[in-house]
Amino acid sequence: MKKLAIYTVILAFCGSAFYAVSAAEQAAAPAEPAKQEAAKEPPVCFESRKGASEVTQREIKPGWPNVKCSPTTGAALWYGDPYEGTVPMGKMPGLEKIPEGHALIKPRSEKLALMPMCGTACHNGVGPQFNPPKLPKDKRPTPIPTMGAMVPDLANFQHGRGRIWCLDCHHTTKRNMLVDHFGDPVSFDQPQLLCGKCHGDKLRDWRDGIHGKRIGEFVSSGKKRWFTCTECHNPHNVQDGERNRGFVQLQPEPSPQLPKGMKDAKHEKLHPIPH
Ligand code: HEC
Ligand code: HEC
Ligand code: HEC
Repeated sequence: MKKLAIYTVILAFCGSAFYAVSAAEQAAAPAEPAKQEAAKEPPVCFESRKGASEVTQREIKPGWPNVKCSPTTGAALWYGDPYEGTVPMGKMPGLEKIPEGHALIKPRSEKLALMPMCGTACHNGVGPQFNPPKLPKDKRPTPIPTMGAMVPDLANFQHGRGRIWCLDCHHTTKRNMLVDHFGDPVSFDQPQLLCGKCHGDKLRDWRDGIHGKRIGEFVSSGKKRWFTCTECHNPHNVQDGERNRGFVQLQPEPSPQLPKGMKDAKHEKLHPIPH
């Protein structure tokens, strides 16, 4: 439903019709019957950032779920297959020694509803607005009501305390790409190359395994899924809005209790999925 609303907004804006927001509200309105249907559907958990890293629970083998999730927060706590949905990380300076296929990531681009359209429907170089030759004259912050209506975090952009803006991260002409310091395009699936251009210390920590998260084989040369920066950080709001404190914080919850009659959780160490 949410996606449909976003598409409605995009189509309407790109056709420069300004009743778009109310159209989106109407599209999102009939929630009641949809909610009842949703109750029968398998639970959707989030991995690291609510609303941006969702995974639907399912069985990969009878009785063997892909994830187990916290009933309190809906966060994924355990993986039946840590490599599900992953692809090789791609070239990363400093990680050349990792054997081929041992550093995996989950692509971000498939989670981004607007992405497939950014460079085709709107910033395609032919429309009257938002396009070359009418590109912004400089990178200074300017209000962008259209974007703010589509992505609410952009209406109150919180990253860099007013010192950075869209085109410090997004490629000027290739809007389906991010940008490095040379102006070369960077894939949305390799946000570490973007974030690392300004947060070099964090990039080093991440590369060394003391920032972020990895799951998989825990020997140092083992095959691992690396969580990328944007799986945890919302690039448009790293300062948590009004709080202005650095990071949207989750409420920690106590470690899970073993079910009655179960002495330990050793069975969870068995792994029937071959890799
Ligand atoms: C600090 C870097 C950074 C800045 C500055 C930034 N963005 Fe982004 N933006 C990103 C990244 C990274 C993503 C991908 C997010 C993800 O993977 O969840 C993204 C995603 C997007 C998307 C796609 C959202 C979707 O759900 O499909 C839009 C649209 C967007 N940005 C617009 C903007 C606009 C407009 C501005 C300026 C007001 C801006 N961004 C500023 C880094 C940035
Ligand atoms: C063009 C430079 C630039 C890029 C690219 C960039 N940042 Fe930032 N980031 C900044 C600046 C500047 C600040 C503000 C630091 C301050 O004044 O507190 C900041 C703040 C932050 C903070 C909050 C830290 C704090 O103490 O308030 C986080 C978290 C963060 N960035 C994560 C990211 C992530 C994740 C990415 C990649 C999606 C990224 N940044 C990309 C420049 C950048
Ligand atoms: C598994 C989740 C996760 C991943 C992946 C991750 N971070 Fe973080 N990051 C955090 C958490 C949690 C904090 C601490 C927030 C706090 O202290 O309020 C943090 C803090 C930060 C800060 C602010 C530190 C400060 O001094 O306040 C920056 C900047 C940052 N991360 C950048 C990055 C970059 C760049 C990447 C990718 C190379 C990355 N992070 C990957 C979870 C993550």
